[in-house]
Formats: sequence, C-alpha cells, structure tokens
Amino acid sequence: MMTICFATNNVHKLEEVRSALGPDFCLLSLHEIGCLQELPETGTTLEANALQKAQFVFHHYNIPCFADDTGLETLALAGAPGVDSAHYAGPQRSATDNIALLLKNLEGKNNRKARFKTILAWVEPTQQILFEGIVPGEILEKPRGNMGFGYDPVFLPEGYSKTFAEMDMAEKNSISHRARALEKLLEFLKSR
Ligand code: IMP
Repeated sequence: MMTICFATNNVHKLEEVRSALGPDFCLLSLHEIGCLQELPETGTTLEANALQKAQFVFHHYNIPCFADDTGLETLALAGAPGVDSAHYAGPQRSATDNIALLLKNLEGKNNRKARFKTILAWVEPTQQILFEGIVPGEILEKPRGNMGFGYDPVFLPEGYSKTFAEMDMAEKNSISHRARALEKLLEFLKSR
C-alpha cells in the first residue's frame, strides 16, 4: 500500500477521492500529516496554484503529494470566476454569496455555457506532473438540489438533467472534473 497525501482538508473532496482511489492507497489529509497551516496559493492560474500547494507539502513534510485547484469558467464572463472561484464574492468564501454574484453577473446573458476545470499536481522526489479534468455544462438561472458543495446547485453538466447538487456522491464522482483528473493520476500511479 502506498501512503500519499492529498493537500486538502476539504472533507467533501477527501471523501470523493478516497472512494475513487480504493484500497491500494493510504490517503492522508493535511491534518493527518500534521500540517495545520494555510497553504500558499498566490498563483494566477489553476496550474500554478496546484503546483505551489503540492510542492509546499512535499518539501516540508517529505511525503509524495498531490494538490488540486479547481475553477468554474463561464463563456459569457470571459472565463470568470476561474481561478477566483473560491472567493468570487469576497474573502468570506461563501458558496451562497458566490452563487448569488455569478447569477447576477449572468443576468440577461444568453450564453450560459460553463465548465468545471480541475488541475491536479503530483509531486514526488523524482518528478512533478500536472493532470487536467474538465466537465462542460451550463449555469442554471436558479439553484437546484442540496447535495455536493460550492457551485454544484447551479451547474448542469452537459448531457444530464440533474445538477451536480441533485446527484449523490457516486453519481457526481463518476463524471466530475476532479474524478476525470484523478483518473489520469491513478492511471499514472498504477502504471509504475
Ligand atoms: P478549489 O480551488 O478546488 O478549492 O475550488 C475553488 C472553488 O471552486 C471553491 O469555491 C469551490 O467551492 C469550487 N469548487 C471546487 N470543486 C467544486 C465542485 O466539485 N463543485 C462545485 N464547486 C466546486
């Protein structure tokens, strides 16, 4: 069994990733490796932020590590909220406020196409690699559903009639941006 760290304390993400990884891996959170501080996240792209977080953990805690950074990109708003998704409506990082601002900014726009994009950065002694996962969809005019987190209630993935917040974890896991990026990381890890 390989022990690795996922550089997050977000319980939703940990649960999602643990269930996707299966029994070959012991997945530790930041808290579980004793990292209680806020990770640096000063990049201007998802790629830079994911790499910065994974490198920080690897260098300070000496454990193979991966970190993710996710953004919701909308076509009508030139890619916003993108790398600013977590604090789109302000430093309080409130999902309710973020959704409200997004819906306000999209008012009157015909094009509601959007996509979730996850970048996963893997860092170990010999190499660092980036993996990408994308789910296309659209932003609804009103939230629907109460599962998931973040922008899930307003995101309708392409080809589905349920929002991410109307899907249970298994269903969301089978198509999510994070799952798609994770699949690529898993393929890489298992191929060695
Ligand atoms: P992070 O950089 O992965 O922490 O995510 C940035 C922002 O995107 C946060 O506001 C999250 O709530 C949101 N986000 C990340 N993943 C998801 C998801 O799977 N569904 C909905 N929102 C998400």
